[in-house]
Amino acid sequence: MKIGVLASGRGSNFKVMCEAARRGDLGGEIAVLISDQPGAGAHAIAREFGVPSVTILPGDHPTREAHEDAVAAALEARGVGLICLAGYMRLLSPALVRRFPNRILNIHPSLLPSFPGMHAQRQALAHGARVSGVTVHLVDEGCDTGPIVLQAAVPVERGDTEETLSARILAEEHRLYPAAVRLFCTGKLRVDGRRVEILP
Ligand code: GRF
Repeated sequence: MKIGVLASGRGSNFKVMCEAARRGDLGGEIAVLISDQPGAGAHAIAREFGVPSVTILPGDHPTREAHEDAVAAALEARGVGLICLAGYMRLLSPALVRRFPNRILNIHPSLLPSFPGMHAQRQALAHGARVSGVTVHLVDEGCDTGPIVLQAAVPVERGDTEETLSARILAEEHRLYPAAVRLFCTGKLRVDGRRVEILP
């Protein structure tokens, strides 16, 4: 299975995937990193692991559709069968999601459906939640609404700041995302509407 990773930022989730792939634990090969940010930390990680990386700038394309077409073409040219969003700060259009049905994974730093969208950790603190966590889900046409693959709960501790809670959640992200990718790549996920069955 060829995997394409889309990232806009530091790329710590991308890095743990690269490490898992190097160990032979990911169940697939990371064929390309695509970013919308030329300065994304993920590019340096791609170089470190010998993964081809490309920047596809939204500003180089006349419309959002044209930008997404370029992203999709880059993925298809490399025979990508699974797309992993790893801190990709753009909402995918329905047209792009339909081009890769049930073949896009995302990681979100809360227990969905609680706290979707931006600043999930800040939302959890502001709400007074005692527990938050991590969700890996398939991407559908909504924002953080797709079928849930794996989740892990993380406690909110007394005195937590956005930074301390984010760090505790990130440790779980790094465990969960490669595990979910491996389940996908090894054919262990069966999607039935909103429900994702994990086969033995
Ligand atoms: C993570 O918190 C992830 O859950 C969210 O964006 C952040 C990306 O972090 N979608 P990194 O770039 O993988 O370090």
